[in-house]
Amino acid sequence: MLRGALGPVVGELEVVSDAERLAQAAADRVVALASAAIVERGRFTVALAGGSTPEPAYALLGEQPLAQEVDWARVEVYWGDERCVPPDHPDSNYRMARRALLGRVPIPGENIHRIHGELPPREAAAAYRLELQDNLGVDGRFDLVLLGMGPDGHTASLFPGTDALNEGEHSVVAVYVEKLDAWRVTLTLPVINAAHQVVFLVSGEAKADVLARVHAGEPLPAAMVHPVDGQLTWLVDRDAASRLLPDA
Ligand code: 6PG
Repeated sequence: MLRGALGPVVGELEVVSDAERLAQAAADRVVALASAAIVERGRFTVALAGGSTPEPAYALLGEQPLAQEVDWARVEVYWGDERCVPPDHPDSNYRMARRALLGRVPIPGENIHRIHGELPPREAAAAYRLELQDNLGVDGRFDLVLLGMGPDGHTASLFPGTDALNEGEHSVVAVYVEKLDAWRVTLTLPVINAAHQVVFLVSGEAKADVLARVHAGEPLPAAMVHPVDGQLTWLVDRDAASRLLPDA
């Protein structure tokens, strides 16, 4: 594993050799952060990333030996974003996490706080704002926000050129993504940047160009993730880092 600072983007860069080791490193990191948060604060609040990259890490967390290392009764699961689809839809981030992890571990149902993608988008966003307000505690800080990154530099559902990027008041908004012709519900930068820990998971050659652009300081959405009083880690595999550290 290669560690280093990430140029203009504040954060720690950890490069692992391939996608399989990335999943393992991510799952190990979640276990470690969960244990630390439960010791320090009595519980672990995590916002899961959607998309495909995190799925193998969730699967590792859902099986032994890692599953038994987490006190699931003290874990509160949220999502960084959701597609505006029902919970059993193939595109649902909740469905992906339930199949890979949540349906396989003894986490109480009331600890699973999904975004209700089946509602009208703005209603789903307003409901989730209340969910965070009622459950995240007075400081409204996640212990961990897991994020992926698209080839265009989007993260969660904060896409380039969308108003959601400039949202400074609401913790959750609904956003219509022109290029996808689809509505999404997403956490906004203030609540992401309030987290104790933010970990990006980036894998594959297809992300190499955008990772280098983020590293070079281009103002892409993912480059706007700067935890105010928390730690940022980029967990990437060698293919994704190939333009960043050519000899990686
Ligand atoms: C989503 C995610 C999104 C994702 C990136 C990367 O709902 O799709 O929140 O931000 O993390 O698009 O997706 P992949 O991991 O599939 O490349």
